[in-house]
Amino acid sequence: MYTVTIAMRQIIDQNDEFEIASCEKKYYKKCQVYTPDNIIKKLWTMLHQDKEYYEKVLDLGAGDGRFAKFGNYGEYIGIEIDKDTTNIDLPNNASIRKQCAFSLKEKDFDLCIGNPPYVRHQELESSWKKKYASMISNKLDEEFTQSSNIFVYFLAQALLKTKKDGKVALIIPFEWATRPSSRSIRNYINRNEWSVHVYRFTDDVFSKVLTTASITIIDKSDKTNSWNYYEIDPLFNITKTMEPTGTEKKILPYNPREDGLYSQRGLSPGSQKVFCLTEEERKKHNLEIGIDVLPCLVSLKPLSKENKVLTKNLFQKLYVDNNQRCWLVNSQTFAISNNLKQYFDTIPYEDRNTWTCNNRDVWWKYHSVKAPTFLYASAFTEYGPKIVINRMNAISVNSAPGIYANSKVNLYKLLDYIKAYDFESRIVNHSGKLKRIEINQMNSVLQEYIKESQFQ
Ligand SMILES: C[S@@+](CC[C@H](N)C(=O)[O-])C[C@H]1O[C@@H](n2cnc3c(N)ncnc32)[C@H](O)[C@@H]1O
Repeated sequence: MYTVTIAMRQIIDQNDEFEIASCEKKYYKKCQVYTPDNIIKKLWTMLHQDKEYYEKVLDLGAGDGRFAKFGNYGEYIGIEIDKDTTNIDLPNNASIRKQCAFSLKEKDFDLCIGNPPYVRHQELESSWKKKYASMISNKLDEEFTQSSNIFVYFLAQALLKTKKDGKVALIIPFEWATRPSSRSIRNYINRNEWSVHVYRFTDDVFSKVLTTASITIIDKSDKTNSWNYYEIDPLFNITKTMEPTGTEKKILPYNPREDGLYSQRGLSPGSQKVFCLTEEERKKHNLEIGIDVLPCLVSLKPLSKENKVLTKNLFQKLYVDNNQRCWLVNSQTFAISNNLKQYFDTIPYEDRNTWTCNNRDVWWKYHSVKAPTFLYASAFTEYGPKIVINRMNAISVNSAPGIYANSKVNLYKLLDYIKAYDFESRIVNHSGKLKRIEINQMNSVLQEYIKESQFQ
């Protein structure tokens, strides 16, 4: 065992000491989703449509090296950080190096292919993000944000490691084509006038990953700077679409909030199980409504699209009586009751061992929150999200964000406007048929409403 460890460390590049030390949590163990062969084959077929042979091929986050099985190439180099992964039976012109994708010295590859890791920025170590975001910012000459998912770092690295006229062909979430966190990459591509083809999978191809996947091909040799969008079904039938939304309508822009009327994400208390109680749990711990617990909404699922107002009666019937999680423990102040203190004392460490709780001075004390004027669902499948006027003063939690409106706003007029708004054709599918409205996309709808209502 000892000899194996020494041997493994010898083939790990010196620069990877940082990587290994800063990855104690081994984020990469969480992202080991493997690509089905039929998708890899399809990708190679697409790549060979305009080029029969690729001399030097790079695969960052290569896993077992399965992308090496197909395709016509001179040499394939796979880079894989996890020394525990075992390789497939690799062809003679293919090899896997156990090192970090960001410490690779070689460049000028003809093709960078693969399926990089998918890990949310919250799960990456700050020192890791700081180091590589600043390295990428310098190289791209664009402000690369640390709040990018790890696959965006890999996309940047793929662009940097390929030749002036090379290609990048990756299986990555479709969101990179539209979300603000990948803006620096899009700017970099536009500055270089490369062309882009993004094929959005219409069905979930990776069952465990809750995001819409795409085949993304960036062709540096085609300097037309065209952005082309397609849908690709499970049988690989491809349909060209006008916009990333899959319709002819432009994606809803992301606008920062403006005073007076704005959307804000729901409170992330740290753990719904601990902080949002059902009626039975509230009674069991003798927690008093209005003092120890406050009404909250973690989901709008119990409501129907026809509901316009969340009244006390409706809240009681759909949430309290149905034993939904609807009571937020009120720990905004230090002066909590004995009953609430006793409740917190019953919580085992494993239940509160979350990033949010661990990063607070007192694990249960969240910053103060105000109930929004409207509550809406962040995700929907058809037309637009459920939305209600919040007469119950329920606090919005997690995926039930809120809209805050000042007293000048006509609430019913705004409600009708949002209910009639065609979100479906202006938002990209998040996962399967599910669409998710980002907070700043709702802000742009609210700003459209203000502009339009001024002319009425
Ligand atoms: C989504 S998996 C894909 C594996 C393989 N390419 C496939 O498609 O079947 C991503 C791989 O990236 C590896 N990985 C994560 N971070 C890495 C890093 N910094 N450098 C190299 N590989 C990394 C993970 O260990 C994992 O095997």
